[in-house]
Amino acid sequence: MKSTLNRFSVAPMLDWTDKHCRYFHRILSKQALLYTEMVTTGAILFGKGDYLAFNEKEQPICLQLGGSDPQALAKSAKLAQERGYNEINLNVGCPSDRVQHGLFGACLMAKAALVADCIHAMQDAVTIPVTVKTRIGIDDQDSYAFLCHFIETIMPYTDTFIIHARKAWLSGLSPKENRDVPPLDYERVYQLKRDYPQLTIAINGGIKNFAEIKQHLAHVDGVMVGREAYQNPILLSQVDQQLFGSQTPIVDAVSAILQLYPYIEEQLTQGAQLNHIMRHTLGLFNGRKGAKQWRRYLSENAHKKNAGIEVVEKALSFIESPTD
Ligand SMILES: Cc1cc2nc3c(=O)[nH]c(=O)nc-3n(C[C@H](O)[C@H](O)[C@H](O)COP(=O)(O)O)c2cc1C
Repeated sequence: MKSTLNRFSVAPMLDWTDKHCRYFHRILSKQALLYTEMVTTGAILFGKGDYLAFNEKEQPICLQLGGSDPQALAKSAKLAQERGYNEINLNVGCPSDRVQHGLFGACLMAKAALVADCIHAMQDAVTIPVTVKTRIGIDDQDSYAFLCHFIETIMPYTDTFIIHARKAWLSGLSPKENRDVPPLDYERVYQLKRDYPQLTIAINGGIKNFAEIKQHLAHVDGVMVGREAYQNPILLSQVDQQLFGSQTPIVDAVSAILQLYPYIEEQLTQGAQLNHIMRHTLGLFNGRKGAKQWRRYLSENAHKKNAGIEVVEKALSFIESPTD
């Protein structure tokens, strides 16, 4: 099935885009596609926890899977569809050592036929779209011909690729360095869209504001934003208006926190810790008076035992309204 949801998305980010984060992001934008953290097939099929849990208010939501066994991926995708996920994405971009040992992530770029089998098996098991997130190359395999071969091998089974516009070094660089050190090459991703216009291509990497997003959208079908959306989440508050033509009023930062209150209360009664929710909101007031005190008060108090909504109220009292 064709994906129609990738015009703007918040990237999958391990340890960051958990369910609390996604709930918060959804208050800011109704249209952005929200990705889960990468979840391995091993965790889904054999883990003790419920790794597929999400709140239906988070939709539209895409589950990112890590794995390379077609049958395990197909089973996981089927379970995810039954739980209500809107899309499934396969991680072919993460370069960490741990991931390479499990034979998933970016090292799969060198195994295009296996990735094709994986996508084929998943797409046979579900009716929702199955997509691929990848890089423009790995190690010395960084020619345009290499990327085209990878895409051509897989495109009989999916038409949607999200491409982080830099290659990954599989050894020698940490995952963090691999997000900054290899240079960005947006032109290569544009070229891919020109050469394969029938594909849905979303671009990712280093994108920070609406001017950049709109510039990319003149060349490709979608934009995925990771770190900037997480560290400066107020960006998300204008996505619906700037990119989807929504006429609804822009949610301001204070009201986003107020809208989060019922969720916080509900989660606390279910045993969640306040800091696990609020850590995702620390950057919300960046650039506004009181932002530092907001961050500091939450960092110093939200982890305490029995910390409740009064901690958030107090932190919010430091924020001056724009007219103050
Ligand atoms: C903390 C963190 C965790 C990440 N975890 C994942 C992941 O689980 N799966 C994935 O495909 N990419 C992961 N990434 C990479 C992002 O999805 C994205 O491709 C990368 O950050 C580049 O986009 P950006 O410059 O907009 O942040 C992660 C990035 C960060 C910062």
